[in-house]
This record gives sequence, structure tokens and C-alpha cells, in this order.
Amino acid sequence: MVKTVLVTGGCGFIGVNFVRLLLANHKDWQVINLDKLTYAGNLQSLAGVENEPGYTFIRGDICDSALVADLFEKYQIDTVVHFAAESHVDRSITGPAEFIQTNIVGTFTLLEAARKQWLREGEGRSDLCRFLHVSTDEVYGSLGKTGYFTEETSYDPRSPYSASKSSSDHLVRAYFHTYGLPVLITNCSNNYGPYQFPEKLIPLVLNNALQGRELPVYGDGGNVRDWLYVRDHCEAIARVIENGTVGQSYNIGGHNEKKNLEVVELLCDMLDVKVGPLKSGESRRSLITFVKDRLGHDRRYAIDAGKIAEELGWTPKFTFETGMEKTVDWYLNNRAWMESVMDGSYRKYYEEMYGS
Ligand code: NAD
Ligand code: TYD
Repeated sequence: MVKTVLVTGGCGFIGVNFVRLLLANHKDWQVINLDKLTYAGNLQSLAGVENEPGYTFIRGDICDSALVADLFEKYQIDTVVHFAAESHVDRSITGPAEFIQTNIVGTFTLLEAARKQWLREGEGRSDLCRFLHVSTDEVYGSLGKTGYFTEETSYDPRSPYSASKSSSDHLVRAYFHTYGLPVLITNCSNNYGPYQFPEKLIPLVLNNALQGRELPVYGDGGNVRDWLYVRDHCEAIARVIENGTVGQSYNIGGHNEKKNLEVVELLCDMLDVKVGPLKSGESRRSLITFVKDRLGHDRRYAIDAGKIAEELGWTPKFTFETGMEKTVDWYLNNRAWMESVMDGSYRKYYEEMYGS
């Protein structure tokens, strides 16, 4: 079925990969990308697809209720895929206010616009509509050495980031139970892949290791994350939009639990092979530096993705090895992207195209 999809945060890491997937696989769908272009949004990441006939970019804030209502009306949006968020835990510790605003108030603004447009009395359009809220496994808190997060696990957020995402999940669910808004929630584990902003572990380590700079590992490096290649996440989201049951949550994970130190060492070894060791002849592992731990650092995340596998037939296609191979190659082949993000010149691209 043809859809008109409002993608929020489509200039961020996962949003860019998702917009690219939709434009490649659903050529008859209309994609409206609403993004504020914060430090994490990069229009250059969509170079090459921005002139596709099914694609429209709108620079704006999801908290701007008049703008959001206008977009619903003007484009007759029937599907929302809501990525826009402040997404970095470390920033939420030093400056939580933006997280409350975008992640909670912004989600509320979108829900209100959808409610007003889709549930208008007498129109009966809501059966065809879907509001997919993209959330995180961090809402479930931290695991011990064993166990997995299922959709039934109680929420136990422990950082301002995960608390703001939990709040937005609760609002989304409330709009289903109270108003009958056709919502879906996905809770995904850590993603990696092309176009990730280099404040997150994997692109940060790649960038620093290439430049011969220190690789900061928090605490003892024993914290565990369940890594998923971003393409697999995007395909899971597309599957949930098309076949998910409204009102339900779906956990998405990669079956790839790794300690942070293992990830950093693997990246060092891959770069040593692909581009050679440091000028000194030493391995890039010599750059690893243990630094002060993150406040309230969650020890382990691990997803039980059985529900989405059984109900929607989704399982990840990439192993950690194949996904990392593609990721490292992408960053090596796209050094200009990384450099423009690091020196801030990616902003000039936007200004040249759209004015400041
Ligand atoms: P990101 O930080 O790379 O991108 C966020 C995007 O949202 C940017 O383009 C930014 O400009 C935009 N944005 C921020 N505030 C906005 C606002 N007020 N109005 C409009 N646009 C705004 O984030 P990401 O890693 O792509 O994550 C996307 C979503 O997926 C988030 O909701 C995040 O919680 C969730 N998620 C991420 C991961 C992960 O590993 N990255 C894992 C699970 C879930
Ligand atoms: P991150 O990529 O920030 O994702 P999240 O906090 O959402 O899981 O961090 C992944 C893990 O890597 C997390 O346990 C924190 C750790 N980490 C470091 O050890 N060093 C770093 O420089 C960063 C950014 C993260």
C-alpha cells in the first residue's frame, strides 16, 4: 500500500539509513523528513537522494506544534516514523534539559497532531495510519551477568536519556489506550554502521585510532552492549510498520553481546590490517586509555528479540563480523564525511543549499 511517511530526525544516524532504505525499496511512498538539524543532524548524509521525486526535506522542530499540525494537514501524513531525539547518554548527564524538551515534549507534540488529524470524528482514517515510535533498550535499565530484556521487562531507566525515552514510550502507549491512536513501539539495542556521529563509541574509536589519538575506554571496559548493524534495525522498523500489531512493542537486537574493550580491540586490529600499524610500528591497541567511568553507567544490555522473530519473521542478516567489516570499510571510504563532521564544515553544505 502506498504511504505518506513523516520521518522525524531523518538527518541523524539511523534516520538517514532509514530514509535511504525507504527511497530505494518503496519508490511509490512519499517521505517527508522533518529535522531540526541539531549538531547531530547532517544533510550531507543524504547527498545523492535529496532530489528523489518521493522525498521532501523540512527543517523544523518537532516541538513546534503549529508546524507539525501544518505538515499533517498539507501532506496528509498517514504514517509517522519518529526517530528525532537527543540520543547521547553522556550529553544527557551534562545537560538534560534538551532531552526533556525534544524527547518528551516533542513526542507529545507529534502524538497530539496525529490524534487531531487521524481521529477526527466521522473521518475513520485511523485504520490506515500508523505511528511508530523508535525507542531504545535502555528503558529497561541494566542487566546482571545473565538474563535478557523482553517486552514484559519492567521499565527501570537510569540516565536522563533513558528516563526521557521511557517517558515518551509511556505517552505513546497512553495515546493507544486512551484515544485508540494506532501506535507501535520498537525498543532496539545499540546500533552501528555508516553515518553515525563520532561521539558514539564505534565511530569515535575509528576516528581517533586513524588519527593516532587516545581511545577512551570508560571504567574497566567490561560493560556489555548488544550491537546491531543499522541496516538490520531499519529493515525491522519497515517490517513493524507493515505488519506489526497496533498497541504492541517489539524488541530488536543483534544477538551480539560484546564487552566495550573487545569492540575497541577488534577495531584496532581491523585498522592495523587495513591501513597498517601506527607510524611507530605499534598496534593501535597501544592507544587504548582507561578513563573515569560514566556516572550511573549501565553494566549490561541484552535483547530477547524472540517476539519480532516469531510474529513478524524478522531476524538480523548481519553478524557482528560482517557488519563491522562493512562499517570500517565505509568509514575508510568516506573520510571526507568524517572530516567535515569533525571540523563542523558539514554545516556549510546546508547553508550553500538552503541559505543560513
Ligand atoms: P542521532 O542523534 O544521530 O540523530 C537525531 C536526529 O534528530 C538528528 O538528525 C537531529 O537533528 C534530529 N533532532 C534532534 N532534535 C530534534 C527536534 N527537536 N526536532 C527535529 N529534529 C530533531 O540519533 P540516532 O542514533 O539516529 O537515533 C535515532 C532514534 O533511535 C532516537 O530516538 C534514539 O533514541 C533511538 N535509538 C538509537 C539507538 C542507537 O544506537 N543510536 C539505539 C536504539 C534506539
Ligand atoms: P555509546 O556509544 O555512547 O552508547 P550507549 O551509551 O547508548 O550504550 O557507548 C557505548 C558503550 O561504550 C557504553 O558502555 C559507554 C562506552 N564508551 C566508552 O567506553 N568510551 C567512549 O568514549 C564512549 C563514547 C562510550
